[in-house]
Amino acid sequence: MGKAKTSEEIRRIARAGRLVAACHRQIRGWLAPGISTAEIDRRIERYILSRNGKAAQKGYKGYPYATCASVNDVACHGFPDERPLTEGDVVTFDLVVERDGWLADSAWSYPVGAIDPRSAHLLRTAKGALYAGLVAARAGNRIGDIGHAIETFVSRTGCRVLPGFVGHGIGRSLHEPPQVPPTGQAGTGARLVEGMALTIEPIITVGQPDTWLARDGWTVRTRDGARAAQFEHTVAITKEGPRILTRRPRAPRRQR
Ligand code: MF3
Ligand code: CO
Repeated sequence: MGKAKTSEEIRRIARAGRLVAACHRQIRGWLAPGISTAEIDRRIERYILSRNGKAAQKGYKGYPYATCASVNDVACHGFPDERPLTEGDVVTFDLVVERDGWLADSAWSYPVGAIDPRSAHLLRTAKGALYAGLVAARAGNRIGDIGHAIETFVSRTGCRVLPGFVGHGIGRSLHEPPQVPPTGQAGTGARLVEGMALTIEPIITVGQPDTWLARDGWTVRTRDGARAAQFEHTVAITKEGPRILTRRPRAPRRQR
């Protein structure tokens, strides 16, 4: 059972969440053919430190980097590396920030330059899957309603959900109960209550939903080599419904 948090505790997670969101805005600005994921990882680690945060993935269970950078057929937990990204790649950056002892977690998939139509469909579907799950994250619903909503949405797209890659409660630690599976049956599982902070993070592929773990112990790839994408937010269950704690700030208005 996930413990409900006080509104003060949710505020602290939201503070970490704003820095996570700002990191993603930086990544979006830097991404272009020619830059490497390792370079982005270094910039993000510096950026987080400069804003009085900690890159909480680094050292977590021995994970060596601030971000996970998962390119094309890498489903999740890819290591940033020095290879330049090339036009047409799809890359997911996943990152966790700790601020004053509280954590927030968000992953986002990005196109590098112009991408093929199938990859664009993948990105739209994976983002839609996150929001389908978010809509079901309401007090009174159950955990299974979230996975059910995700599966139902994705089943109409020709894409597939990778089962077993679960979201989680989050707060002072990265992985708290309950688990938030991206698949499930409506009306089953733990009851969602006001004050819970959760991540929703379905991984979607245009191919078959089977994966293998590389010898580095982290990198997860699709078995058939098909591309995968993942959008993840940290969300609080509130009286008014789901509140996204890692929401991207609006781009500043351009001066005229
Ligand atoms: N952000 C990931 C998650 O959703 C963390 C992956 S494990 C790590 O749980 F070691 F990379 F941090
Ligand atoms: Co997560």
